[in-house]
Amino acid sequence: MEKPIYITQPSLPDLDDFIPYLREIWDNKILTNNGPFHKQLEKELADFLGVPYISLFANGTLALVTALQALRITGEVITTPYSFVATTHSLWWNNIKPVFVDIEPEFGNLDPEKIEAAITPKTTAIMPVHVYGNPCYVERIQEIADIYGLKLIYDAAHAFGVKYKGESILNYGDLSILSFHATKVFNTFEGGAIISHDIATKQRIDYLKNFGFAGETTVVAPGINGKMDEVRAAYGLVSLNYVDDAISKRREVALQYREALRNISGITVFEDFENVKHNYSYFPILVNEELYGLSRDELYEKLKANNIFGRRYFYPLISNFSTYRGLPSANKENLPVANRIADSVICLPIHHEIDEEDLKEIIKLLIYK
Ligand SMILES: Cc1ncc(COP(=O)(O)O)c(C=O)c1O
Repeated sequence: MEKPIYITQPSLPDLDDFIPYLREIWDNKILTNNGPFHKQLEKELADFLGVPYISLFANGTLALVTALQALRITGEVITTPYSFVATTHSLWWNNIKPVFVDIEPEFGNLDPEKIEAAITPKTTAIMPVHVYGNPCYVERIQEIADIYGLKLIYDAAHAFGVKYKGESILNYGDLSILSFHATKVFNTFEGGAIISHDIATKQRIDYLKNFGFAGETTVVAPGINGKMDEVRAAYGLVSLNYVDDAISKRREVALQYREALRNISGITVFEDFENVKHNYSYFPILVNEELYGLSRDELYEKLKANNIFGRRYFYPLISNFSTYRGLPSANKENLPVANRIADSVICLPIHHEIDEEDLKEIIKLLIYK
């Protein structure tokens, strides 16, 4: 390929649509601190996503760190090693010990059947990830959380707009967090959010993201500065108009990939799941070297040599990074499925502007070794 094709491309709205918003900010001179665009985006996103309350953040990592603070999580938290490092880093920043539990092979999410064995008297919460936007086994995980009296915080960074049984996946658990990073289906350049289910919790989260201020002279907690500014909130309002279209274009790309790759020996694709409205934020494939004839890394390098930039999400596994590999739960024998998938995965380029020619080229490289 002459022009490079990257794993994703941000969906940017028409600049002319954005300029009037900037002009309004320049006129009213409100740049941050829960300004009018911030308030409007919280409301419009809640309506769009079908969730009761949303608190905007400067990024998804600060949202994760704050969600743990909001629920006063301490001790040990059960989580997945198959995610972006920010999931586990948010625990570390709160002085919480991550306890890794293996994933299930079907969707790549925390395996509910392995959670109970990892619970100790110090466990206070479970933090699963809807990886690639694939919903976790939410009912079963809630059941376990209820039996053991644990809080449940979903890292839903990939799950913007995903629905399960007709309802937003973000309505499960105690809290969910989103990322609006540039690489996400809906972006605000950088950004994030916490979804909560009652006004008192939203209020507490809003105090925490503003240094703990609950009024001009009252500080109720050692909060942080996690606020989203007015420029990005305004940009989010404009971007929101484009997100449905971007998701439906991604869907077309996913369908064509599946059609072309489904029957290649040694390549596994993830299919759509029953009762789920997907957002097609990633297109992972698993490469079985013996059957396919090339290793995952050989295929990855071959694509790169042809100007096609997939990503090995999520490799290395979080539990194999030096920060975490000393933890007893990080042992490879404890995480066989996650290690196998991390060693065989490539996410292929998927976004709203991949055209027929790009797709043909990528598929040809995958078919003809
Ligand atoms: C699963 C997951 N959690 C958390 C984050 C952190 O979000 P942010 O980059 O907005 O801080 C990301 C990624 O970017 C992610 O992929």
